[in-house]
Amino acid sequence: YFSDVPQAPPDGILKLSVLSRADSDPAKVDLGVGAYRDDHGKPWVLPVVREAEARLAADPAFNHEYLGVGGLPALTDAAQLLILGSDSPAIAQRRVYTIQTISGTGANMVAAVFLNQFKRPADAAVYISKPTWGNHRSIFETAGHVVREYRYCNYDTLGLDIEGMLADLRNAPNGQIVVLHACAHNPTGIDPTESQWQQIADVMAERGHFPFFDCAYQGFATGDVDRDAYAIRLFVERGFELLVAESFAKNMGLYGERTGCLHAVCKSADVVPQVSSQLNRLSRATISTASAYGAKIAATVLQDPALYQQWLVSMLEMSRRIKTMRDALRDRLVALGTPGSWDHVSNQIGMFSFTGLSRTQVAALRDQYHLYMTDDGRISVAGLNSHNIDYVAKSIDDVVRN
Ligand code: LMR
Repeated sequence: YFSDVPQAPPDGILKLSVLSRADSDPAKVDLGVGAYRDDHGKPWVLPVVREAEARLAADPAFNHEYLGVGGLPALTDAAQLLILGSDSPAIAQRRVYTIQTISGTGANMVAAVFLNQFKRPADAAVYISKPTWGNHRSIFETAGHVVREYRYCNYDTLGLDIEGMLADLRNAPNGQIVVLHACAHNPTGIDPTESQWQQIADVMAERGHFPFFDCAYQGFATGDVDRDAYAIRLFVERGFELLVAESFAKNMGLYGERTGCLHAVCKSADVVPQVSSQLNRLSRATISTASAYGAKIAATVLQDPALYQQWLVSMLEMSRRIKTMRDALRDRLVALGTPGSWDHVSNQIGMFSFTGLSRTQVAALRDQYHLYMTDDGRISVAGLNSHNIDYVAKSIDDVVRN
């Protein structure tokens, strides 16, 4: 039975963590998975998370009971406000349903299965950016969709190919499902400007496309949670029905707790019971109920005004350290006279930089310099710090020259 099962390819991101863990060279630098590290290369438990955990531990009413099928209401309510804004008319009109998910990936998968069952037209394909997060294609294909790509990155300038993107969305048949990164595009670190988002919304409206926003890095693009939600709020304002996958992995550092939500913004409150019943059914069939611990932590932080403010400060600290590292890498490459232009490393935003290094250069960096990044040349800038930045710059300089 099992002997006929074909070998699956390794995951392009997670394989790096395995390879890096197995590498005991002291010079090793892991720039693979998108997870925040402090200036000593260590994971950072946010002070507000420590405080929320202490409060949970001290609470005599704390228990490990199942959550309801929709998740922890304290989290789903607060997450709606965070994504759509406290003054959101859609929330006031009770036309948003939020279900707690297994972080952003779980939200993507529930959305993918839901859309595959209920998409209109029934033969609509899913359009993902070229390139996109390595898991998007796999999730949507696993759910049964046909997946196509729209142009996104201009590989010559390592900036946004807005004309290509708009043309591909305009030339797609009406009513396609379009996966958009709400902010801090993964893997490129290239986001549309506000006026480009308006152009994208225009074309999407003209062609009747359905927006699916993946929001895994709210707070990491500009350091401001509201500015980072600009695109989502614009589309809601424009009257689109849409889905949003929201993750608390990065912005609250709750990676392994798998805390996230899926939001469905509907045209009217009347359809919410239908939509919510189907999302609840799909969630029940796959995860039964979402995980409680991370949800309780995130809800504590989001609901307590003082903790919320402290959280915003920590997020700013993380995004500022990343920005400092971007500039430091660019400056060192310029100082070394490394062939090519490196301004894009500084100009890109979020956790990643799409360096433009070739597959051969990436392989050389891994095999000869113990430096781990995805095959497409993406680095997690959070893996850089004041102790390894010179080594990383020198290594990149060496491989680019050879
Ligand atoms: C990444 O792109 O590195 C992160 O989103 C982690 C993941 O699950 O792939």
